[in-house]
Amino acid sequence: MDDELILLNPGPACTSHRVTRALLRGDLCHREPEFGELLARIRSALPPALGLPEHEALLVTGSGTAAMEMAVISSVRAGRSILVVDNGVYGDRLLRIARANGITAHTVRPEGQSDLERWTTPIDPEAVRAALAAHPDVDAVAVVHHETTTGLINPIREIGAIVAESDALLVVDAISGTGNEDQDLGEVGADIVCGTANKGLHGLPGIAFILCSPGGVERIQEVPARSLYLNAASYLKGQRDGNVPFTPAVQVCYALDEALKEYAEAGGFAGRTRLYRERAALVRGQLGRLGLKVLVEPAFRANSVTMIHLPDGVTYPRLHDELKKRGYVIYAGQGSLSSHFFRICTMGEIPWHRLEELEAALDQSITAARA
Ligand SMILES: Cc1ncc(COP(=O)(O)O)c(C=O)c1O
Repeated sequence: MDDELILLNPGPACTSHRVTRALLRGDLCHREPEFGELLARIRSALPPALGLPEHEALLVTGSGTAAMEMAVISSVRAGRSILVVDNGVYGDRLLRIARANGITAHTVRPEGQSDLERWTTPIDPEAVRAALAAHPDVDAVAVVHHETTTGLINPIREIGAIVAESDALLVVDAISGTGNEDQDLGEVGADIVCGTANKGLHGLPGIAFILCSPGGVERIQEVPARSLYLNAASYLKGQRDGNVPFTPAVQVCYALDEALKEYAEAGGFAGRTRLYRERAALVRGQLGRLGLKVLVEPAFRANSVTMIHLPDGVTYPRLHDELKKRGYVIYAGQGSLSSHFFRICTMGEIPWHRLEELEAALDQSITAARA
């Protein structure tokens, strides 16, 4: 992959040839015992790999949003509500999922006049405490671990401690942080964690999952089915028997199985998070030398996503195209941030020297984009 296009978007991330080759392992009927074995292997590897050995994994064929929707609709009992912590596009998506499914939703949002202010401010855990006190019918609190919108890490450990004092469950969208950001999810007390194969785990898009604590497992069995496809209780029942309710992305499961082996061989959580820390330091050093300004206070910055001010006189489309000519795909800011910011995401299998060469490519691309 030395001369391949390097994806610096927040997933799908570049994968190793070993992972992509797994796609060619052949055809397999998901009702055969071989698929049951593959499923069992993935289900048992995922929770300990992500620091949640007591959790139970449920795989769903779909993108990360399928896992979010499954988690939200399967964690709130009839007549109860959800509290959504919203400081970015994905917090807002959790809220929209709840409302689209007729679930009463309350919100905690940072103060701020603009998206920029709101999306770069970590949530104050005390605001969650106050909202829980104001809404005693809350059955679940949903929060995004790593807001990919800006590369902001929310204080989920502190929020988890507050939620643990209530009767509500904690649902964490860890889709862009699972296995790659420093937070040890085992310390958070999350009951339902959403993840996907194609970001920090270096698998391919098409398989997402939720990880449920014993309390989470109990809850999903108490909640009325709000969807046929995304009803967690039916996945639980089927997958415990080595089965899936609907046709899964079989070959993407082969690839995830291989990606999880690579993850373990690379030192598991400690090894992967160290790599992402080192990448962030390398790239942010380059940005500093190029005079590019990084958004988000250092204390709350993710390692996998860096949000950067566009240099003066440079538009995102020009910068994107110049960098693509030089072998790198960057990513636009979201929503109202798109005209002033761009993102560099160091997820996936990226040869170290390609990251070292990014500095020269950025420098040349900025000059060319200004011309
Ligand atoms: C934090 C977070 N949640 C959810 C999603 C949604 O995932 P998908 O686009 O795979 O549906 C993303 C995607 O980037 C994300 O970063």
